[in-house]
Amino acid sequence: MNKEMIKLNDVKRSFGEKSVLKGVKLKVNKGETFLLIGRSGAGKTVLLKTILGLLRPDSGTIFIDGQEITQLTKAKLEKIRLKFGLVFQNSALFDFLTVWENVSFFFKQHTKMSRREMRKKVTQTLALVGLSGIEDAYPYELSGGMRKRVAIARAIIYDPKIIIYDEPTTGIDPIAVDKIVSLIKDLHNRLSITSVVVTHDLETGLKIADRIAFLLGGEIIFEGKSQDVKNTTDKRLLQFIQGASGGPIKEMEV
Ligand SMILES: Nc1ncnc2c1ncn2[C@@H]1O[C@H](COP(=O)(O)OP(=O)(O)OP(=O)(O)O)[C@@H](O)[C@H]1O
Ligand SMILES: [Mg+2]
Repeated sequence: MNKEMIKLNDVKRSFGEKSVLKGVKLKVNKGETFLLIGRSGAGKTVLLKTILGLLRPDSGTIFIDGQEITQLTKAKLEKIRLKFGLVFQNSALFDFLTVWENVSFFFKQHTKMSRREMRKKVTQTLALVGLSGIEDAYPYELSGGMRKRVAIARAIIYDPKIIIYDEPTTGIDPIAVDKIVSLIKDLHNRLSITSVVVTHDLETGLKIADRIAFLLGGEIIFEGKSQDVKNTTDKRLLQFIQGASGGPIKEMEV
């Protein structure tokens, strides 16, 4: 059996003159929680979008669950995308739709469930993320932490093989962060899903991740187990973890 769920080889992507990914090599194993760290503007979101097939790389190869996706047509890419659940950087709920409409929004397009069955499925999924009785609420009626959980429910409703979290804990208080962390761990254990997490909150990230990659200057300059991070001698990684302004990473370098 193929051990890797995601595998990138020498992936490059530029926007005009600006080269963002300069040859990314990366492996995410099946069932692991993988943390991607890097400075603001390093290209983490660009990398996630490339993995999702939302952005095409200029060169290099990407394998998802053993299948090369780099040359696939749009229609085939959309099928692959069903393997992914997405939790975007800012929850990205639709303000004009209720919670149950939000959670079922993408799922609806891929199933023939009746409205009643769908509603039941939404209630079950909300229960998985620790929410109940809010099906008919609108996003503005919820706290930031609850909105994050609704976004997670929307991501897991169609049993994805991989879940991608881009900044799942930004903008919520420490207790809410802790709840989201427990939820990510719990979902991971219960659904044995492969998770990729991007966060600036290293403490949180290290709590959930099995392995970590550090994106700097368009390349992965460190890939290893979470516990290796604490013992690292890599001066750039040390500087990043310590948040020091002085060190080998230049002010403008991302
Ligand atoms: N569609 C696009 N067109 C042009 N440039 C883009 C596009 N998307 C991203 N970029 C550029 O790529 C670089 C990396 O952006 P990206 O959003 O991936 O950073 P990030 O690591 O996710 O940062 P943050 O931690 O702040 O979310 C930025 O300089 C950004 O301006
Ligand atoms: Mg980003």
